[in-house]
Amino acid sequence: MNENDNLKSKIDAIVKVLEQTKNPATNNSLLEDQAVEEISPLGEDNILITLNLQVDKKTAFAVEASIRTELSRHNIDSSKVKINYKTEPAATHGSENTMPPRVKKLENVKHVIAIASGKGGVGKSTVSSNLAAAMAKKGYKTGLIDADIYGPSIGKMFGHPGKVELQILDEKKIIPLEKHGIKVMSFAFLLDESQAVIWRGPMLGKALEQMLFDVKWGELDFLIIDLPPGTGDTQLSLAQFVALEGALIVTTPQDVAVQDAMRAVSMFEKINIPIMGIIENMTEFLCPHCGEGTKIFSEGGGENLSAKSGAALLGKIPLSIALMSSAEKGKPAVIENLEENENEIIKKSHAAVIEAYDNIAVNIEKKIRS
Ligand SMILES: Nc1ncnc2c1ncn2[C@@H]1O[C@H](COP(=O)(O)OP(=O)(O)OP(=O)(O)O)[C@@H](O)[C@H]1O
Ligand SMILES: [Mg+2]
Repeated sequence: MNENDNLKSKIDAIVKVLEQTKNPATNNSLLEDQAVEEISPLGEDNILITLNLQVDKKTAFAVEASIRTELSRHNIDSSKVKINYKTEPAATHGSENTMPPRVKKLENVKHVIAIASGKGGVGKSTVSSNLAAAMAKKGYKTGLIDADIYGPSIGKMFGHPGKVELQILDEKKIIPLEKHGIKVMSFAFLLDESQAVIWRGPMLGKALEQMLFDVKWGELDFLIIDLPPGTGDTQLSLAQFVALEGALIVTTPQDVAVQDAMRAVSMFEKINIPIMGIIENMTEFLCPHCGEGTKIFSEGGGENLSAKSGAALLGKIPLSIALMSSAEKGKPAVIENLEENENEIIKKSHAAVIEAYDNIAVNIEKKIRS
């Protein structure tokens, strides 16, 4: 094992310990509460953990003691781990249904909307980028955050798959990439691939907070956040940091996708984020040869999820080659101009995709006005 592997496995073990240690103020794990500000190498083979605990000093000592006991149980030399903590007078947490204490509003951004699903590969990133494009096409000032650290794909969909040299202003604000009239930020713009692995767990919340608040978004009507699959850390961090208008849940038509999507719905309900609506993706495959639609993933998923969750079905998007190939070309399909001499069936399929997204955009406008 080389030094880097050693460090990585030590940090992984520490993350596990912190995952299991409770924050006495909330009874959640320290990670869940974003109480871990930093885990970083310190000198030769020491590690520094910085905690932000909303408890008094005495309770913080007890937390430290319990972390040290657990570290020893995991065969980590606790004398080589320095634990710093900021303590604050215990915060008033109010009733269960209040927003978490650190939620901030993003200045000058009217609507922050998260795109989520319980399941991977259902089309969240495709929906996020095309919806952002549909909103921008309507004249709204639109931003898009790729909050998926493990599988960022928004950059690729906008023609910038890797690290991007972004301008940083004096006041340490990053200027986002501007592409097709949309302001875009992704973890992938900031990191080399090899760095991503160390930015897990506790660092993730910090990185997400920076992505929201240290980026010069300027005035925006909509900021769309493409979430990773599942109901993990990123979703919880997001709910802790920023006041969200709500979440849009993407599902595909089959039952199993609906079950997974329902898990995402329940999680958002638990953390008091309203479900703004359901989007069914891959409703029917539009054949590029004959133009016929085939419901290859069964049907009814969007309606079922809408009935179960009580959130409106905002639209259905066909499974179309236009959507896949435009993602590969780095321009969302809804703003892509096809060649004049393109095959008529492909043109029709492309038009169906545009219509689907335009409808969803109108439904979101209605939702926001209601
Ligand atoms: N309606 C559609 N028609 C054709 N292809 C689609 C459609 N929706 C998504 N795809 C394709 O399916 C693949 C997965 O989509 P996407 O990356 O958007 O899913 P995701 O839910 O964001 O995945 P992950 O959970 O990995 O983040 C991509 O190749 C995308 O181009
Ligand atoms: Mg994705």
